[in-house]
Amino acid sequence: MGHPTCVYVRPIKPDADCSRLELFKSFESMGVTVIQGELDDHKKLVSVLKQVDVVISTFAVPQHLEQLKIINAMKEAGNIKRFVPSEFGNEVDRVSGLPPFQALLDNKKKIRRTTEEAGIPFTYVSANSFAAYFVDYLLHPHDKSDQVTLYGTGEAREKDLEASQLYPDYNFTCVDEFLNIFLVNPPKPKLAAFA
Ligand SMILES: NC(=O)c1ccc[n+]([C@@H]2O[C@H](COP(=O)([O-])OP(=O)(O)OC[C@H]3O[C@@H](n4cnc5c(N)ncnc54)[C@H](OP(=O)(O)O)[C@@H]3O)[C@@H](O)[C@H]2O)c1
Repeated sequence: MGHPTCVYVRPIKPDADCSRLELFKSFESMGVTVIQGELDDHKKLVSVLKQVDVVISTFAVPQHLEQLKIINAMKEAGNIKRFVPSEFGNEVDRVSGLPPFQALLDNKKKIRRTTEEAGIPFTYVSANSFAAYFVDYLLHPHDKSDQVTLYGTGEAREKDLEASQLYPDYNFTCVDEFLNIFLVNPPKPKLAAFA
C-alpha cells in the first residue's frame, strides 16, 4: 500500500482453510505484517494501534458494532490520525430503509457518532449499494418460503423514488436482464440516485 502496513486478524487455527493461509502468505510476501489477536484483547489491540497512524476496518455486517471496541482502543492509544470504519455502502445519514436494512444503517450511524464523539479524525466511504450483492444475498434468492412480508400498507409514499424513474428508457423483467443492463453496460441515470 506504499506505507508499512499491518493487518490485525483473528488467530489462525491449525485447521484453517488453505485459501486463508495462502492469503496471509501473499500479504506477507508483499511486506504486510500479519498480527494475530482477538478483538477482546484490549491491551494487545492498544499496543498494535500505537504502531500505526491510519486504521481501516472491513468488518462484515453482523460485526459492525464490534468496532466500538476498536474505537475504545484508539481512544486509549491516542495517536490515530485517521479512522475509516467499515461502511462502503449507502450514505447512512441521508437514507432510510425498511426495518432490517434500517437496523444496519443505525449500526453504521452509531459507529460514526461514537467516532466523532471520541474526536478521532475519520473518512466515511460511501459507495452506494452493489446490485450483485442485493441479488445474490439480500434478496435471499436461495430461501424456500411461501410467505412475503410487506411493511406498512405496501403503498409507495409520494416522495419515494422508484428505480424505474432513474432509468425510464429501460424495462427489466428478470435478474439476468437487470445484471446485463446495470453491470455489463450501465446507462447514465436520468436522475442522481442520491443527491
Ligand atoms: N455497497 C454494498 O453493496 C456492499 C456490499 C457488501 C458489503 N458492503 C459493506 O462492506 C463492508 C465489509 O463487508 P463484507 O461483506 O465485504 O465483509 P466480509 O467479507 O464478510 O468480512 C469482512 C471481514 O470481517 C471479518 N470477520 C467476519 N466475521 C468476523 C467475526 N465474527 N469476528 C471478527 N472478524 C470477522 C473477516 O475476517 P476473516 O478473514 O477472519 O474471516 C473479513 O476479513 C461492510 O461494512 C458492508 O456493509 C457493502
